[in-house]
Amino acid sequence: MSSSNVHLVDHPLVQHKLTLMRRKDASTNSFRRLLNEISMLMAYEVTRDMPMQDIEVETPLETMQAKVIDGKKLVLVSILRAGTGILDGMLTVVPGARVGHIGLYRDPKTLTAVEYYFKMPGEMENRDVIVVDPMLATGNSAVAAVERLKELNPKSIKFVCLLTCPEGVKTFQSAHPDVPIYTAAIDRELNSHGYILPGLGDAGDRIFGTQ
Ligand code: URA
Repeated sequence: MSSSNVHLVDHPLVQHKLTLMRRKDASTNSFRRLLNEISMLMAYEVTRDMPMQDIEVETPLETMQAKVIDGKKLVLVSILRAGTGILDGMLTVVPGARVGHIGLYRDPKTLTAVEYYFKMPGEMENRDVIVVDPMLATGNSAVAAVERLKELNPKSIKFVCLLTCPEGVKTFQSAHPDVPIYTAAIDRELNSHGYILPGLGDAGDRIFGTQ
């Protein structure tokens, strides 16, 4: 597995919260809150290299050159439905971001991704994009989502998940070697039903309490 373009976010706060989320008896409320908190920390990591520009600011005492984020507003793209869990946390720290949605469901027999919704902000060619989905498992949805986004020719694309596995990373990197993956953990393996082991179960069901 090539790990050159995989950023493992191993900050103790992220790792601690992830462990609490993995517990099967974590309530929907605490799972959602923890995902929200981790997503804020992941947003901090994934935006670390955003371009900056100097602008003139008048403080109460004098005028100075100070830094602000350069360029058009960032786009956070949520892969429905579980991406919503990460999106909420990221928007807390990047409140001006634009938001796109991609609806993909996993065909239970073939495990391939089928698109049912796609809505993006305008001027995508001038924007940096961060795609979010908690679980990079088979990698099929993530690959399909990024393929669709590349048709709009954005300035850059990054992919953020909470958990992945060697199979998911391999599939994603074979299709999109140019897109960095940010994750809090790379678990042992994918099972035959497309679930990550040891993992944390079905992220969507755990976020929304729909099991
Ligand atoms: N999607 C999930 O929600 N969990 C997994 O383990 C794999 C895919």
